[in-house]
Amino acid sequence: MDLEVLLVAAGSRLWKLLLIFSLSLVLVFASAFQLKALDNGLALTPPMGWNSWNAFHGDIDEVKIREIAEAMVSSGMKDAGYEYVILDDNWMANPARDADGNLMADPVRFPSGIKALADYIHSLGLKIGIYGDRGSMTCMNIPESGSYGYEEQDAKKFAEWGIDYLKYDNCNVAAGSCISCDYKTMQEALANSGRPIVFSICAWGFQPWMPEIGNLWRTTGDIVDKWDNGNDWFVGIINAIDINMRYRQYAKPGAWNDPDMFVIGNGGCTTEEYRTQFSMWAMMAAPLIAGNDLRTMDEVTREILTNKEVIAVNQDPLGIQCIKVRDDGDQEVYVKPLANGDYAVALLNRGESAAKIRVTAEEIGFSVKPESGYLVRDLWQHSEFGSLGEIEADVPVHGTVMYRVSQVPVEQLPGYVEINLSAEQSVSAEAHFEFAVNLVNSGAKDVVNVMISLQVPDGWLAEGLTDSGFNQLAVGDSIAAKWNISPSLAADGFSDIVVTVAYQDELGEREWQKGFRVLVLPPEAVFT
Ligand code: GLA
Repeated sequence: MDLEVLLVAAGSRLWKLLLIFSLSLVLVFASAFQLKALDNGLALTPPMGWNSWNAFHGDIDEVKIREIAEAMVSSGMKDAGYEYVILDDNWMANPARDADGNLMADPVRFPSGIKALADYIHSLGLKIGIYGDRGSMTCMNIPESGSYGYEEQDAKKFAEWGIDYLKYDNCNVAAGSCISCDYKTMQEALANSGRPIVFSICAWGFQPWMPEIGNLWRTTGDIVDKWDNGNDWFVGIINAIDINMRYRQYAKPGAWNDPDMFVIGNGGCTTEEYRTQFSMWAMMAAPLIAGNDLRTMDEVTREILTNKEVIAVNQDPLGIQCIKVRDDGDQEVYVKPLANGDYAVALLNRGESAAKIRVTAEEIGFSVKPESGYLVRDLWQHSEFGSLGEIEADVPVHGTVMYRVSQVPVEQLPGYVEINLSAEQSVSAEAHFEFAVNLVNSGAKDVVNVMISLQVPDGWLAEGLTDSGFNQLAVGDSIAAKWNISPSLAADGFSDIVVTVAYQDELGEREWQKGFRVLVLPPEAVFT
């Protein structure tokens, strides 16, 4: 129909023919593009692993790599989901190719060869990744190490060795070379290699063709072990976050923005900064690739890297990169929708002093109903608390507080104390009346240090008839407190009494308020 309308509008026969011709060209190109789009079924969640570059640069050998693989298992990293052990630059011989043009491992540092190393890594239940380059040499300038012109041969060799992941770099390229063509050539060579191989594009910045060709693509220059490295090509943690957030709409299952590897555990940043790197990489659905020496890491580093609750956010099957919902300068809030309807929320403080950061259920993205409560799971403290829709946290310098928030019926909140208020609905301005507060712990946890306080309008009096402080309120129990209230003589019409109930559960002070509206009538009206 649309085509007909266009043809009529085009008028002459010649125009019609030209239009048909160009429309079919568009269709041919569109379907060719569709056919070539990357759909290798790999990396449906962000890849997790370890890469040799940040810890060792070119100083790698087979003993070290085997030990790292063993440490990946013994440290609990494998159990937490880490899978790929990735050799970066300098695994090759110098020069890198034999007489037939086959890539060779360095015979001194890798005497058993890559196939044996791959077999060993596979025997541990892990996978192996390797590094290559689209130009004539890798970034360490090893003669003959680049795959340009050898793509088919190299991809076959990688498959023969049992390689599962290729990081493909961008050094030593010929003047006027076509970057997307070169990456495409290697992607097709991998597809023809007979082995599923994750394709990691390392070309130091996003370009629109990348999601069609790679499973992941570097959005940044190289990361260094610093919080902020200004606008340099070498980026710090916070710079990598800012750059990587520009491309959030491109991330999806099988195709991920890569803000480079972890510097966690390498000593140049604070623990809070490393937690921020881990939290924000998880929020951004970024590849989780450790870059420290797993054999000697301390417990703090291990705990960060193996935080399963944070990893679950990263590996969520929806594969959505977080959205920044609040930017107050140094204080920011990021939200990541999760497959089960929960949201992951990161409160990031990039400022130089600790700060309170606040967010509401509405800002997070929930459709807010009056009967909704929010179960807030702190993914670093591994504890939870209830909220009626406002979440606030003290966030340390360069730190990130990370929550997983679920919407639940309000009665299911932990330590939830139901507040029931009772009095006559209408009272006389001249008479006093009894006001009762009844608390029921209908939550899941006992609470302690319960305090009830009352706020009455100006000129009213409230005289306590019972205790209003209680040591404990166990699950299922109830307590009552009573007041004698005298309205001011001038009171007329509706007035509010506000009850504040404060108590503690395992996570600290909770405070809820509830109002009670009384109608104050002239004395004669009450009795008629
Ligand atoms: C480039 C890459 C790094 C690393 C080195 C190796 O700089 O961006 O991640 O692979 O090359 O030489």
